Amino acid sequence: MIYLNGKFMPIEEACIPVLDRGFIFGDGVYEVIPAYSRKPFRLGKHLKRLQHSLDGIRLKNPFSNDEWKNLLEQVIAKNDGEDQYLYLHITRGVAKRDHAFPVNVPPTVFIMSNPLLPPPAELLVSGASAITALDNRWIRCDVKAISLLPNVLLRQLAVDMQALETILIRDGFLTEGAASNIFVVKNGVLLAPPKSNLMLPGITYDVVLELAAANRIPHEVRDISEAEVRTADEILLTSSTKEIMPITSLDNQPVGKGKPGELFARLHALYQDYKATNMRGGHSCGCSHS
Ligand code: PDD
Repeated sequence: MIYLNGKFMPIEEACIPVLDRGFIFGDGVYEVIPAYSRKPFRLGKHLKRLQHSLDGIRLKNPFSNDEWKNLLEQVIAKNDGEDQYLYLHITRGVAKRDHAFPVNVPPTVFIMSNPLLPPPAELLVSGASAITALDNRWIRCDVKAISLLPNVLLRQLAVDMQALETILIRDGFLTEGAASNIFVVKNGVLLAPPKSNLMLPGITYDVVLELAAANRIPHEVRDISEAEVRTADEILLTSSTKEIMPITSLDNQPVGKGKPGELFARLHALYQDYKATNMRGGHSCGCSHS
């Protein structure tokens, strides 16, 4: 069951007009929110990022945070599975094709849910492979825009090479993955690229840095050169749907010892604990957040 413009319906019955600006221009933004045990994870942070994306494209938020929460809870309740991921999508609505914003047109609002499956156990044991590519996206990668053509093409490069993800390099520095954030470990220190307009501020990225801080794992947020990515002891990938995963091969070369490293094991265990505590309504990392 999905939500579309005020109504719940089976996804097969959902239709949008061909003049929707999402279809015509990719003119919209989205969010992906995991729900564990039917409770949205870090909802407040996802809604804050949604507001940032809407502000970035100058589109008014159609709902208050309470209204979003209520709608998302209804979608969760109408779908099977304890763990789901919610996809929500807002476009600038339906109007005669013209690049300029239409006046007085209501936005299109769509929410769907899909089963949230943990990453395959064998990939957590053996690690996954990644390739690198030049980051050729626009310079507002902090906006979670539905116009994802560069990300789609970059991610397909990985699929073509039987790899999980494409790690992006811009002007000699790591930005992120085609659909994930990337961390590097060198000499026991967790390195994270600083948030900027060149990457999506990942919600899972924040969790990992908070867990590192709360558990005294040495970490630094700073620019990471391509050479540091290539000589990393460990590379970690994070996203709401993949949680935290080890990258053990990069461009067909082993990363460090070629198997998941110590910091991955620690952070993965901490992340699982944190999720469980969060679902019971508390926080395990000692910070105050929703
Ligand atoms: N993608 N960077 C990009 C470009 C992403 O598309 C994503 C997530 C992330 C990780 O952000 P978070 O931890 O908040 O999921 C970073 C989602 C899952 C998607 O598009 O399906």
